[in-house]
Amino acid sequence: MSLKDKIDIKNLPQHIAIIMDGNGRWAKMRGKHRVFGHEQGVISVRETAEAAAEIGVKFLTLYAFSTENWKRPATEVEALMKLLVQTIHQETKTLTDNDIRLKAIGDLDSLDENCRKELIEAMNTTASNKRMDLVLALSYSGRWELTETFKALANKVRSGILNPDDITQEVISNNLNTAGMPEPELLIRTSGECRISNFLIWQSAYTELYFTSKLWPDFRKEDLYEAIIDYQQRERRFGKVSEQIKSCR
Ligand code: IPE
Ligand code: IPE
Ligand code: MG
Repeated sequence: MSLKDKIDIKNLPQHIAIIMDGNGRWAKMRGKHRVFGHEQGVISVRETAEAAAEIGVKFLTLYAFSTENWKRPATEVEALMKLLVQTIHQETKTLTDNDIRLKAIGDLDSLDENCRKELIEAMNTTASNKRMDLVLALSYSGRWELTETFKALANKVRSGILNPDDITQEVISNNLNTAGMPEPELLIRTSGECRISNFLIWQSAYTELYFTSKLWPDFRKEDLYEAIIDYQQRERRFGKVSEQIKSCR
C-alpha cells in the first residue's frame, strides 16, 4: 500500500498551510549560494501544490516571504523577488491546466511594481479556477495582518458603521486577509525549526502542527502524504474531552 493510499479521503484537511523553511541551509550544505536553495524550493512548491490538488485539498497556503524577511541582505531580497516574478510568470499556465486559483495574502503594496503587476495578472487569469486555491503569503505576518484588521475595524467604529459591542471573533476573522477561507487544520513547517515565525497566528489557534526535519527543497509529494497521515491519527478535541468527540462521530 502506498502512502497516498493510506490517506483517508473523508478526513482530509480542507486547508493546509506550510512554512517552507530551510532553503538557505540546503544550498549551504552543497557549497552553493542561498539563492540556489530558493530556486530549488520552487520545484517543491510545484510538487506540493500538485499533490494537494490531486488528493482534493481545497486551500494550500504557502509562507513565501514574511514581513521580517525584508531585513535580509538586499541581494537576497532582490533575488527572491526576481524568482517570485519569474515563477508566477512560468507557472500561470500550469495553474490553469490544473484548475488552481492563485491568491495572495500580505502587504502586497510593499512589493515592487513589477512583482505586484505579475501577481495581479496571474490572479486575474486564474480567478475562475475551482479545484484548489493556492494562497501565497507574501510580505505577510500574522501581527501585520491583525494590526491592519484592528485599524480597519477602528475606522468602521469611527465612521459609525460598526458598534464596538458587535466586534466578535467572527467579525475579526471576516476582516482578516484570509476572510472566506476555512482555518488551516494542518500547519507544516520544514527544516526542523519548531516555531510559527509570525505565520497565521489568529487562524492557527486550533491548527494541528507538524514539524519535519526535511529541508524545503527536499520536500516532495510523499512528505505531504506523511504529514496528512500523521494529522489523521490525531484527535482534535477543541477543549472538550475525548468521550464527547467520539460520541459525535
Ligand atoms: C525559507 O528558507 C525561505 C524564505 C524564508 C524566503 P530560508 O531562506 O529561511 O532558509 P534557512 O532557514 O536559512 O535555511
Ligand atoms: C519563515 O522562515 C518565513 C518563511 C518561510 C517565508 P524564516 O526563516 O524567516 O523564519 P525564522 O527567522 O527562522 O523564524
Ligand atoms: Mg529560515
